[in-house]
Amino acid sequence: MDKTLTISYHEYDSAAGLPVADRELLEQAVAATATAYSPYSHFSVGAALRLTDGTVVCGSNQENAAYPSGLCAERTAIFAASAQHPDVRDYAALAVAGRAADGTLCEASPCGACRQVLAEYEGRQGHPMRVICLLQGGRVRVFASVADLLPFGFVF
Ligand code: THU
Repeated sequence: MDKTLTISYHEYDSAAGLPVADRELLEQAVAATATAYSPYSHFSVGAALRLTDGTVVCGSNQENAAYPSGLCAERTAIFAASAQHPDVRDYAALAVAGRAADGTLCEASPCGACRQVLAEYEGRQGHPMRVICLLQGGRVRVFASVADLLPFGFVF
């Protein structure tokens, strides 16, 4: 039997159109690009994660000379949040932004490994985590749920 999967997402022409909480979270993701350690790729990624109690935990990509040992901004943020706030471990939204070597803001969308990690936390908490991605030219894409970013992810 053939089946079809449809995903929905919302795009805004600019961050100005976002609800205030999402706009502020994206601004924090943009600010977090300044904390990246990316001497190899020269590409900085910032992530800002809002817990359901309102706490915001930021992360950025942390690279290493032994390339696979580095970590993406999204996992840096969610692992830090899980370790620092284990009593909450409940996430409302994640915003992600990229910054090129020349300082220009650019698109950032969670990689496959980050989607798998985000999906596990979302699955455990039992309600969706919004994902807000900065796109080229200041546009913004919002997914209502991590599940929309990773259909058929691994479950154990
Ligand atoms: N990177 C992230 O931080 N998040 C992603 O979702 C994809 C890629 C980082 C990893 C590496 O430090 C740099 O971007 C270039 O790939």
